[in-house]
This record gives sequence, C-alpha cells and structure tokens, in this order.
Amino acid sequence: MKIGILTSGGDCPGINATIRGVCKVAINHYGMEVVGIHSGFQGLIDKDVEILTEKSLSGLLNQGGTILGTSREKPFKKKDLDAGYDKPGIIARNIQELGLDCVVCIGGNGTQKTAARFAEIGVNIVSVPKTIDNDIWGTDLSFGFDTAVSIATDAIDRLHSTASSHKRVMVIEVMGHKAGWIALYSGMAGGGDVILIPEIPYDIKSIGETILNRIKKGKTYSIVVVAEGILGDGRRRVGEYIAQEIEYETGIESRETVLGYIQRGGAPTSFDRNLATRMGGHAAELIANGQFGRMIALKGNEITSLPLNEVAGKLNLVTEDHDLVIQGRRMGVCFG
Ligand code: F6P
Repeated sequence: MKIGILTSGGDCPGINATIRGVCKVAINHYGMEVVGIHSGFQGLIDKDVEILTEKSLSGLLNQGGTILGTSREKPFKKKDLDAGYDKPGIIARNIQELGLDCVVCIGGNGTQKTAARFAEIGVNIVSVPKTIDNDIWGTDLSFGFDTAVSIATDAIDRLHSTASSHKRVMVIEVMGHKAGWIALYSGMAGGGDVILIPEIPYDIKSIGETILNRIKKGKTYSIVVVAEGILGDGRRRVGEYIAQEIEYETGIESRETVLGYIQRGGAPTSFDRNLATRMGGHAAELIANGQFGRMIALKGNEITSLPLNEVAGKLNLVTEDHDLVIQGRRMGVCFG
C-alpha cells in the first residue's frame, strides 16, 4: 500500500512523534510506502509532497512543531464551493493521481470535520486527534495537552514567588478558546486560588471576596488562572481585563501574564511522545486492516478508534462534575 500523511491546523508538541509512529510502523511492519504531504490540505491541492523514508524519520521524537508544515486550509469552505472552486474534487483527483490508498490526517476539530467530509465522499481517510486544548470529542486525551499543561504549570509555579514577594494578585491567561482544560489542569497542579474557564460563568464580586477572604486568613497573595476563552469586555485580553477588575474590586495590586504560544512550542513530554507513538502505530494498523473513515482515540488506557462522522461538530468540554472541579471547590478554589 501507499499512504499519504498530512498535518493540519495549529501545531502542537507530539505531531512529529505521531508522524514517526505512523510511518515507522507502516514501513517497518506493514511494508507500506509513505508520502509526506506539505502544509496540510493545501499540499493536496498543489501536489506538494515528498517520499518519507526511515532516514527522514530520524530525530523526530522530541522535535516540536511539524516537519511537514501545516496550514488552516479548509477545502470544503462554502465561499470557495459557491464560487465554483471545487477543492474537494481537485484533492480527490490528486490523491488518485499520487496513487495514495489512504491519507492520514493529524489535526484538531476543524481537521476532523474536513476528514469526515472526505470520508463521506468516498476518500480513504484515517485521522489522529491533535490539540493542546484537549477539546476533541471522542478521545479522553489528545497528545500535546500534557505538554501544554506542564509548561503552564511551570509558569504558575514561577509566579508564586514573585506574587508572594510583592503581595500581589497574579493573573495568568492560558490557551483554550472554548474548553478550559489547560486552565483547569495547570491551575489545579499549580495551586491556583481562582480558576476561570469558558464552561463556568463567573462573578467578579465573588472572585474579589475569595481574594479578600484569603488576606483575612493571612494569605497575602493570590494566583488567578484564566482560560483565554472566558467572557471579557471584548477590548482587552481577558487576563488584563480580569486583573484590572480584581484590582478595582479589592484594591490589591494585580498583574497579568499572557503565556501564549510558548504553550505550543518545543519538545513534547514523555507522556505525549508515547501517546503519539501509540496513536500513530494504531493508525497504520487501521489502514492495513482496511478500516477507513475513523479517528484514533484514547479510551481509558486503551487506544481504539471511532467513526469520523460521530466526532465531527462536537466538543469535549469541562463539566462541573469533573473530579478536579469538585475537589477544587471542596478545597476552596474559586471557579467563578
Ligand atoms: O491549537 C489551539 C490553539 O492553541 C488555541 O488554544 C489558540 O487560541 C489557538 O490555537 C491559536 O492558534 P493560531 O493563532 O495559530 O490560530
């Protein structure tokens, strides 16, 4: 068999480990030929590809980003289709011309949606979930999340000493537009006193009370972790907005830090490397068994897969009955 592999959407630690996992198992174990497609679905429009050999797969385990490059190209965009630009048709034809028996798509929610559409029109697709946000439905975890949480936790750890020295409120804004997984996991691991996520509405007065109550108990500083997707005033970044509102409510000097793309860069943790390796190898196995139109998933400690049409359009969000929310509340963490 000859397979293609592409990475689409925002990059994330562990993509290269996944590419390595898919390709090494495909080449070594199944005797397949592997073609790397550059810049996501754009590479399938332009036929921008390279043959991947064992040599090209060296040194990838700990390398951040994606060796194939990525783009946010969405071939099923209504605007293009309405204008008569049939990108899906071009891609399907190019896949045939390149002689690909299947395409492996490594990507986030948008990519899963696109992959499901291609599966619907009869293109052989297997996808692997990738996002630091952990918001892909159908898998317990996606690789990249553990790395982002480690980076954010380290940043929160570092804020404690400066917050304590100056008796300040330190607000840290982490990634997560729709889902607050990074804020929840890093906030709890880093001992955050207030954790704000898009899934739970907040009241600035109760946040102020939490901080003032801490002072009454002799706790002279507070750490506030906010996900970038919480409601703000639309003019400032939410970290800045919350810091200013807290200072206004409590009279305590507050500062904000926006962690940004640092969360997405650099080497993956060993957990993410192994998750990526397992998911990648499983993708090659699905293809060898002729099981197409499926997304790889982690369920408990098992790697499995589910039909792409079950995944598309859904989100994995934090719920109030998550153990970390329940235990956090019992310990006095304010979730808004
Ligand atoms: O990959 C998801 C994510 O990291 C979000 O949390 C973040 O807001 C977004 O990507 C930003 O990515 P870009 O600026 O590349 O669109």
